[in-house]
Amino acid sequence: MARAHLTLDPAFTIGPVRRRLFGGFVEHLGRHVYDGIYEPGHPSAGPDGFRRDVVELVKELGVTTVRYPGGNFVSGYHWEDGVGPVAERPRRLDLAWHSTETNEVGLHEFQHWLELVGSELMLAVNLGTRGPQEALELVEYANVPAGTARTAQRAANGRQEPFGITMWCLGNEMDGPWQLGHRNAEDYGKLASMTAKAMRQVDPRLELVVCGSSSRSMPTFGEWERVVLEHTYDDVDYISCHAYYEERDGDLASFLASGVDMDAFIESVVATADHVRALRRSDKRIDISFDEWNVWYLSRWLEQSRTFTVDDWPVAPRLLEDVYSVADAVTVGGLLISLLNHADRVASASLAQLVNVIGPIMTEPGGPAWRQTTFFPFSVTARAAQGSALRVALDADPVTTAAYGDVPVVAAAATFDGSSVSVFLQNRNLTEATSVTVDLGRFMPSRVVAARGVWDEDVHAVNDLRHPERVGLRSNDTAALADGTLTIELPPASWTAVTVA
Ligand code: AHR
Repeated sequence: MARAHLTLDPAFTIGPVRRRLFGGFVEHLGRHVYDGIYEPGHPSAGPDGFRRDVVELVKELGVTTVRYPGGNFVSGYHWEDGVGPVAERPRRLDLAWHSTETNEVGLHEFQHWLELVGSELMLAVNLGTRGPQEALELVEYANVPAGTARTAQRAANGRQEPFGITMWCLGNEMDGPWQLGHRNAEDYGKLASMTAKAMRQVDPRLELVVCGSSSRSMPTFGEWERVVLEHTYDDVDYISCHAYYEERDGDLASFLASGVDMDAFIESVVATADHVRALRRSDKRIDISFDEWNVWYLSRWLEQSRTFTVDDWPVAPRLLEDVYSVADAVTVGGLLISLLNHADRVASASLAQLVNVIGPIMTEPGGPAWRQTTFFPFSVTARAAQGSALRVALDADPVTTAAYGDVPVVAAAATFDGSSVSVFLQNRNLTEATSVTVDLGRFMPSRVVAARGVWDEDVHAVNDLRHPERVGLRSNDTAALADGTLTIELPPASWTAVTVA
């Protein structure tokens, strides 16, 4: 049996686990908003049209901050279309997803939904087809208390009090040729800088996210971050990272180890941001908003031949509805471990996305809502990861992967909130259990509170409409505590969280 040994010490911390690390993302895309969170006429919908069964699942998932309304969608979006009397709102073409946007849900409705689920709004502005003027009008509409035409418009639309939105994204994936208004780093950097300055003139409290590369595999990755930050360093707080992973060509070992790539991605962006800090002799530190991450079978989506015609613009088509397996959940657990291990520099992260569209929650129109496999590592981590992230001293046997060479058989992260230690473990061995010991002597542990996770004899098992509870959280009864040492046996290809009091 493979083995791994971890040593933890309360004095050795990475940094506080900021709650925004457990954010989500809702884009006007496919059946995410319409026929997802919003389905008037569904038996569980309230008078506002929002499905309460979905609200309950989102609450259970534990997302703290929700990025909205895109994504690629935002680069053609007119926020004004989504406010005012619903019956008078225009139907528009959504070029990003070749759909019709009905605008039944806009800023007010979405903020109301966030109040139902108990999450914070992270709002993106359109820097694709629009610019500083529209962005600062939106900040005025959303955040200025009263006394102007825009604030009077907000009040007339039913909201006297300002929304008080703090986190804002300066566009989306502006390096991507698929993006409406795609531009080079110089041009985007200048646009983002002038937009950020204008927005901050309206509300100096804003926390601003500038677009990093849309993935680490973009040819301009690294250089894009440097140039954009040279233009915006004094104007923004965070730079974005986006990463999607998938099992390619049946290479499960590499897929489970996707956290190795995420580690390298984060560390490269941190290095680039700190390089620009050095160039500018600045004391300010730019942190990361990892505002799109997940498993997404993107290559399947790109391979599908889609022919768009000028007369076919569906409302809420079924798009990007990946059905997730146990292996996908174990990988998501590994990515959460990577995020926790960079808690000092990753200030915020958004699981992309939330409902139906590459989401941990699925719905059927007129029918049920259920948890995908990826729901479980997220919901457990969002609750158990409290206090500070701890440095994990890890001594583990290797496992060989095609993509990353030899990697530790176990990926691990840990947190401590003053009374409980939570340890997050991923076993990357596909066929064998791994025996793990965790030296917790400095914490004087008393008992194992919980040890649960995701694994299955069939790593490709899924939850779907017919079998919505095929995969769930399992309890690991091998967890034991003796003389300050936790021992646990991790099943093959598994993700586990253990909390010790
Ligand atoms: O999450 C799906 C899409 O992925 C988003 O719209 C875009 O930002 C990214 O390319």
